[in-house]
Amino acid sequence: MIIAIDGPAASGKGTLAKRLAQHYRLPHLDTGLLYRGVGRAVLDAGYALADEAAAREAASRLAVDALDEERLRGPEMGEAASVVAAFPAVRALLLDVQRRFAAQPGGAVLDGRDIGTVIAPGADAKIFVTASPEERARRRHLELNRRGEPIAYDEVLADIRRRDERDAGRGTAPLKAADDAALLDTTSLDIEAAFRAALALVEQARKKTA
Ligand code: CDP
Repeated sequence: MIIAIDGPAASGKGTLAKRLAQHYRLPHLDTGLLYRGVGRAVLDAGYALADEAAAREAASRLAVDALDEERLRGPEMGEAASVVAAFPAVRALLLDVQRRFAAQPGGAVLDGRDIGTVIAPGADAKIFVTASPEERARRRHLELNRRGEPIAYDEVLADIRRRDERDAGRGTAPLKAADDAALLDTTSLDIEAAFRAALALVEQARKKTA
């Protein structure tokens, strides 16, 4: 079974994808880490994020198995990821590894922005996770503070709005719910309630394809 989870920044898609993967004992790929890894590599090599050739080079050399989640989770890397993710060549270079992950025997859970639309259009279950920008900013702010990153709520909210706009507005694989995705608004749901709702959606989709 392939489960595709998409949605905007801090919507809770990562947590839900992890929980679903545990529940069904499926491997999980957080595809945002790939784009974060490319952004980081461009900056580490001393190039500007807008340098498309540098981003392409970084994407072609990305060591997918060695991505250091801790180092990539910071707010600057989310922004950097969203800049390089808008380059069609970068997306094209990362396509294969994601499709192979999705196609492994037994299935997989992937989360990102274009899983249900581009990476795994034939997924057995697709969920598009949303929440209001204010609630997403509240969660991300809390998460960053817990990690010891001092950043103001307003800054987090501005970052989320900017990223939503860039991700939804790009020409290649924009952030968008697949026509056949189930929408899950987690604005007023805690993690447990969101997980139960996601599980119910997957079970529903499973019955339909069975
Ligand atoms: O956790 P959060 O949603 O903040 O970030 P993420 O999922 O790690 O994604 C970081 C950025 O990577 C996003 O803003 C997108 O621009 C990009 N991305 C993408 O274009 N396609 C994906 N499948 C995953 C991430």
